[in-house]
Amino acid sequence: MTKRYLVTSALPYINGIKHLGNLIGSILPADVYARFLRQCGKEVLHICGTDEHGTPAEIAAQEANLPVPQYCEEMHKTQKEIYEKFDISFDFFGRTSSRSNHILTTQIFKELYKNGYISEQEISQYYSEADKRFLPDRYVEGTCPHCGYQKARGDQCDGCSALLNPEDLKDPYSAISGSHDVELRRVKHFFLDMPKLEPLVTKWIEQQKEWSDVVRGVARKWISEGLQQRCITRNLKWGIKVPNDLPALHAISQIDPSNEEDAEDKVFYVWFDAPNGYISITQDWAINSGDQEAWKKWWQPDNENDVFYVEFMAKDNVPFHTVFWPSILFGLDTDFKKVDDIKGFHWLTYEHGKFSTSQQRGVFTDTALELYPADYWRYFLLANCPEGADSDFSFALFASVVNKDLADILGNFASRVVALQKKYFGLVVQSELTDATIDRELEAKATKIAQNIACLLSERKFRAATTGLRSLWVLGNEYITQKSPWFVLPEDLEQGGVILTHCLHLLRTFAVANLPFIPSTARKIVQLLNDEESAVSSTKIDESVNFKYFKKGHAVREVGILFEKIDEKTVQALTARFNGGSNT
Ligand code: MF3
Ligand code: ZN
Repeated sequence: MTKRYLVTSALPYINGIKHLGNLIGSILPADVYARFLRQCGKEVLHICGTDEHGTPAEIAAQEANLPVPQYCEEMHKTQKEIYEKFDISFDFFGRTSSRSNHILTTQIFKELYKNGYISEQEISQYYSEADKRFLPDRYVEGTCPHCGYQKARGDQCDGCSALLNPEDLKDPYSAISGSHDVELRRVKHFFLDMPKLEPLVTKWIEQQKEWSDVVRGVARKWISEGLQQRCITRNLKWGIKVPNDLPALHAISQIDPSNEEDAEDKVFYVWFDAPNGYISITQDWAINSGDQEAWKKWWQPDNENDVFYVEFMAKDNVPFHTVFWPSILFGLDTDFKKVDDIKGFHWLTYEHGKFSTSQQRGVFTDTALELYPADYWRYFLLANCPEGADSDFSFALFASVVNKDLADILGNFASRVVALQKKYFGLVVQSELTDATIDRELEAKATKIAQNIACLLSERKFRAATTGLRSLWVLGNEYITQKSPWFVLPEDLEQGGVILTHCLHLLRTFAVANLPFIPSTARKIVQLLNDEESAVSSTKIDESVNFKYFKKGHAVREVGILFEKIDEKTVQALTARFNGGSNT
């Protein structure tokens, strides 16, 4: 029996505000899943936080003219606030630069080292005099030896797509400063012995029951191409320092502590510390919640099956979560819970091109909230979730989804029901439903749809679940159109009252089913119904159809319209403002 659900979203990089693609690529679906599980009465922990190390963080801080720690502090706060405004219900949004992650990552490294999974090798790396730093592969640029493209990166040429090593480039220069004063130096680094860990990881991958074929495929492909020794240290100032208190280290290896380049500014590669963040952020959640040990029941449960662990991420993260991080964990004596299912998402494109942070192309999460409330975005993104394939954002499509689904179907139903209820019954429930008056056909249809939504959510199929939600709203509209209470009233008050009470009950079902997807709208409907929020948030979606819930005399409220429509002129203006026309 599964007792508890651990949900993690890939930790967003600290360097800048994320765009809508990042949101739907992990955090938003994870939130829907966590909310759904809580509503089912399950014990859930949803963990996320900022991924704060690596060169991009250093460079972003430099560009912002701030010391790195201060930049990270501010950007962490900004990102956290944005997710709060999107109604993301993290149990804790932490940071990989925390003390606990330093301690945990150092301990993990030492354990891997002790167990013989860390090797040491000397590699060549460009050093830039002007920048006073070693250059990571993608920060060395130069002329491609294959096609002559002059801005090829050290890892890959954008001209001909060839994979490169920095040494292959002609006329290399620093992409940070543009300086050509760069030279290759020999430096020692630590490597994770992935070939040695491979048998353990492979066995585990093949045992996984929940993974989709795509996710398993990514893992198998990486393994079949042959796992390499992977460099897990970098010459950077900002990050988790590689420990120098391993006596055996210097004896076995030729690390020369007196050599400045060997000893100084050596930190762990960002992908070596970031995933450990899932654990250390849970530790910080535990400290924050007043029970320091509470993290253990998630990561070190008595029985592995006590916790069901799902990770959410975009597809480029999948190799790290299927192979790289598990390899690290398999090299330890300390046992940590491994993932049960990995949900990998495709890309959201912007007007059929890339979202681009550097070119500010597309819609970013901060601006999005200035334009429309969170639920407009949540609904659009979930309805167009890049789950089985890439999907596209355009303001034209966004407007049509908002106008049709949210305003015309959901919003319009709610306002019609309240208007009629007000006009004929002064907002008070007139006809309490009884076995004799309940529309069994409607009840059966609504129940079937609600059960389907719950089933899809438990299977983590978000796009289909959102379609299911919409069909629930459509059912309400069909019902009210077919029954046309405006023709029945005021002549037949009893019959008209019965129809409207059915509609109010449908609205309650909507509130329950909406909650994981569009929580703030769900709360608004709760207000409209003069119901209790806690009752709605603890009702299971598949048990939400209850036509006897409201009693005669119960008063509902007017709450104003739920959704504003977006007109054509606004669509054009927004498209132009966000550079929608160009694909470059
Ligand atoms: N920062 C990475 C990205 O945005 C994700 C890191 S996930 C973690 O692609 F596992 F490392 F935490
Ligand atoms: Zn090339």
